[in-house]
Amino acid sequence: MQTLRSRRFATLARLVRYGWVGLFALLLAACHTDMYSQPKFQTYEPSSFFADGRSSRPNVPGTVAVGQVQTDTYLYTGMIDGQLGDVMPFPVTADLLARGQQQFTIYCSVCHGVAGFGQSMVAERGAIVPANFHQQRLLDAPIGHFFDVITNGVYRGDPNNGGYQSMFSYASRVKPEDRWAIAAYIRALQLSQNATVDDVPPEARAQLGR
Ligand code: HEC
Repeated sequence: MQTLRSRRFATLARLVRYGWVGLFALLLAACHTDMYSQPKFQTYEPSSFFADGRSSRPNVPGTVAVGQVQTDTYLYTGMIDGQLGDVMPFPVTADLLARGQQQFTIYCSVCHGVAGFGQSMVAERGAIVPANFHQQRLLDAPIGHFFDVITNGVYRGDPNNGGYQSMFSYASRVKPEDRWAIAAYIRALQLSQNATVDDVPPEARAQLGR
């Protein structure tokens, strides 16, 4: 049987034993507040310092984010002096076409079909028919047009005046170099449907089995 006195003594002993934990926690809390209540703005907090009342400041004009220097305008717009260009901004290689085929299969074939005839599962069920790349207008279109369509999408009419976007932009999903690779691959698809033996270089004709 414990006496009242020995129980009190046990409580005191426990306090001494564990008291330092509480003291330590108190110390930590104390040094916390200094950094916690430093002068700063929370996200979107108003500020009376700037005339427009915003604490978040717009970028200084001419600011360029790391890795986003766009000095080669043709690579990023497909335009030369405001006109769609008809040349590739870099050489077309077999690797580039393979990359274009892969990206086309991922992003475009679901609607336009693997051969670009505009026949696909989506086309069968959708309200707007995806373009057929083998129609004369697109056979004649400069390659910059394909880059432009992937970058900006397609509009029917003026979106501010009852028009709408009939194909969405792929700019956020497909990087510029890959958009050109897809454009080159579409050109190859177009050629493939209208080619004759004369288009094959003589030294490669043997591979056709003729
Ligand atoms: C979700 C379906 C869909 C996907 C995916 C899609 N498109 Fe389209 N695309 C369309 C539709 C629909 C049209 C026809 C728009 C119209 O007639 O107004 C179109 C039109 C086009 C045209 C013709 C523009 C013109 O001059 O009339 C091109 C070129 C084109 N797409 C390229 C692409 C490429 C390249 C990709 C892949 C990066 C792609 N599309 C992905 C639905 C799609």
